[in-house]
Amino acid sequence: MTADPRIEAVEFDLPGIMREKREIVESILRGSGVRRDNLHLCEGNALDSDALAGAVSGLEGPVAIAKEGLLRYLSRAEQKTLAQNIYRILSSKGGLWVTPDIITRTKVIYDDKARERRQMMSKMTGTDIERNMFEDTTEARKLFEGVGFEVAELEIEQMKDVLVSPEILKLEPERVTERLRGRVAFVMKVRR
Ligand SMILES: C[S@@+](CC[C@H](N)C(=O)[O-])C[C@H]1O[C@@H](n2cnc3c(N)ncnc32)[C@H](O)[C@@H]1O
Repeated sequence: MTADPRIEAVEFDLPGIMREKREIVESILRGSGVRRDNLHLCEGNALDSDALAGAVSGLEGPVAIAKEGLLRYLSRAEQKTLAQNIYRILSSKGGLWVTPDIITRTKVIYDDKARERRQMMSKMTGTDIERNMFEDTTEARKLFEGVGFEVAELEIEQMKDVLVSPEILKLEPERVTERLRGRVAFVMKVRR
């Protein structure tokens, strides 16, 4: 994405993880001799409104905020705080928030392997991933609409032909369809 110099990208993560990401990114850039002055690595807690807003304060709007894999680690109250923090940014800069983290109890994969993985992740991160899931998309919608967002649902299965990971992971097309079926991403903007 940052190969396009017209795009300013901000990667935001907790300080410890961002230190590791910075080392990895710098080592890749050094090794390839490529410059990415439009990639900004910022550390902070996304639940801290000023820290999150500060990370994008230098950007001209509109902005696109993509969050993948974060909501499941946050309690319902923290999910609301995050949504309010993003709402504040989009209210002033305009733009969209896209997240595929709408993991619902009605659609989640309940095989033993998936359950084991969730238990392991809960232990590692000290949060209860099963508890943090939404009951269904209606519950998720209510949360974000309550904060002031207009929510559009995007069926992730529709995107399968543009995904690069199935090829890297050598996944059969049927397996990809099976994993994505019924999963949605939310695309949100400030309700006017
Ligand atoms: C499952 S990973 C998602 C990885 C990411 N989508 C990527 O492709 O690199 C969840 C990420 O959220 C970060 N995270 C968790 N809590 C956070 C918080 N309160 N503020 C900012 N980042 C957080 C974690 O450190 C981790 O990097």
